[in-house]
Amino acid sequence: MSSNPSAEGIRLQKVLSQAGVASRRAAEDLIDQGRVSVDGEVVREQGRRVDPLTAVIHVDGVRVNVRDDRVYLALNKPRGVHSTMEDDQGRPCVGDYLRGRTERLFHVGRLDADTEGLLLLTNDGELAHRLMHPSYEVRKTYLAEVPAPVGRDVGRTLRQGIMLEDGPVKVDSFKLVDNYGHRALVEVVIHEGRKHIVRRMLAEVGYPVQSLVRTRIADVALGNQRPGSIRALNRAEVGSLYGAVGL
Ligand code: URA
Repeated sequence: MSSNPSAEGIRLQKVLSQAGVASRRAAEDLIDQGRVSVDGEVVREQGRRVDPLTAVIHVDGVRVNVRDDRVYLALNKPRGVHSTMEDDQGRPCVGDYLRGRTERLFHVGRLDADTEGLLLLTNDGELAHRLMHPSYEVRKTYLAEVPAPVGRDVGRTLRQGIMLEDGPVKVDSFKLVDNYGHRALVEVVIHEGRKHIVRRMLAEVGYPVQSLVRTRIADVALGNQRPGSIRALNRAEVGSLYGAVGL
C-alpha cells in the first residue's frame, strides 16, 4: 500500500462522472474552470484524489452527493398511511412501501395519517436530522381545503402570528389558491413541524381543515407523483436540500 496520501483515493474527475455530474472529460473542464471545490477549497489541478466517503464536493456552489451508498427518496404518502416504519397494530404504514429495500431508511419527519403528500426518505442521518431540526427553518408547503369564503385578513393574521396552546406560530406565506362554492383551497408555507400544526393553526382562525396535502419541502416538489409512488430525488434536488441546511 502507498504511504503517499496523494496517491490514495479516487481522481476527482472520476468521482464527479460516477456521481452523474458530467462525463470525465466535461468534469475536467469544470475543474479547469474553477467550478469544483473539495472541502471548501476550489480545486484546479486535475490529479487531485479524494475519498468519496468523506469529501464534501460542490459544483457551482451546489453540493454533489458522491456516495453511492446514499439514498434520497420522495414518497407521496397516501391518506390513511401512518408515518412509521412498522405498525404494531397492523395499520398501513410507510414501511409497507419500502419492503425489499436493504438500506436503513429514515422518514424525514411525519405527516398525520390523514395528510397526504411529500415525505422524504433517506439513509443520510445528518441530512435527515438537520431537515427536521427547527433551527434550520426548512420551509414546507401545504395545500389545505377549508370552508369558504376565506376572509381577506386571514393571511395577514397568520403572517403576523397567532397563539396556540403550545406557543406562538406564524406562516411564511399564505395564499388563496381556489374558491369553489362552500370550499376553498389555500396554500400555507411554514418552517416548523409541531404536531398537527397546519390543522391547529387554521382551526384557530376559524377554518377547520377538510383535507391537507404537503406539496413541497424546501425546493423539492411533489409535482404530479401519484399517491403511494416513490421516486429517487435528482442531483439538483439533493443539492438543494444540502444547501437548505448548510451542508
Ligand atoms: N400540519 C398538520 O396539521 N399535519 C401534518 O401532517 C403536517 C403539518
